[in-house]
Amino acid sequence: MTEHEIRYGLRTRVIGQSIEIYSRVESTNQLALRRGYAGAAEGTIVLAEYQTAGRGRHGRVWHSPHGSSLLASLILRHRLLPNQLGIPSLMGAVSITNALRELLNLPAMIRWPNDVLVCGKKISGVLAELDYDQNQRPFFIVGFGVNVNIASAEFPLSLRSSATSIQIEFGRNVSRVSVLRAILHHLEEIYSNLKLGSTAPIIDCATDLSTTIGKKVQLETLDGSFNGIAERIDAEGKLTLRDQSGRLHLFSSGDVVHAEDCV
Ligand code: BTN
Repeated sequence: MTEHEIRYGLRTRVIGQSIEIYSRVESTNQLALRRGYAGAAEGTIVLAEYQTAGRGRHGRVWHSPHGSSLLASLILRHRLLPNQLGIPSLMGAVSITNALRELLNLPAMIRWPNDVLVCGKKISGVLAELDYDQNQRPFFIVGFGVNVNIASAEFPLSLRSSATSIQIEFGRNVSRVSVLRAILHHLEEIYSNLKLGSTAPIIDCATDLSTTIGKKVQLETLDGSFNGIAERIDAEGKLTLRDQSGRLHLFSSGDVVHAEDCV
């Protein structure tokens, strides 16, 4: 994957202004945070062929074989309001889901808050991180990993029943560059809403693409496990669960487990 290949046919104005590609890094999010701290331009994207310490949500590790996936971290400099902190990860999940649907016709859906699933198996994950640069200007990173050309046997046994890749679902290898370009186009479009101060279109898209809403779910959180019907994603990106006694509970993070994911 080269910068030249990515730029060819990329019609974004903000996203991908600067593209950095590495063969091996600890974590593209970690490197992007460093770049952001040092003042890198809005729209800078850091990509790697391999991560030695890829970061997942809740301190988990994100692992992909060398050269098989998209491992990307985008730096954006919009000042988020306190009630918009859940928006960056939704933006990532919506953009990836729409890209997989449009480009490859895959029935991708979002498991709240930001896992992208195809027929119940995880094909992509998003990790958003927020910080301030050395001039106290806020920025955030939208980091995403997409399993592109990974065969089933290449996933560790422990993930084989819960993870998938584009190669597995689409039936053949696809160009990582074309998938990346499609994601960046969607990110640019959806980010323009946030820049205009409007998060409703992002929430609406995340709700439309959600495989969680309307389902009976179990939510694993740091405070324990909750069961209920997932009713809606609120304006801040939080999940509303209605428990058996009819009471509503609001969650800003957690791992959702649902029985049936295939559309
Ligand atoms: C998750 O589902 O737990 C989120 C996974 C996010 C992984 C991506 S890979 C590229 C970027 N760099 C990282 O260290 N993590 C994100």
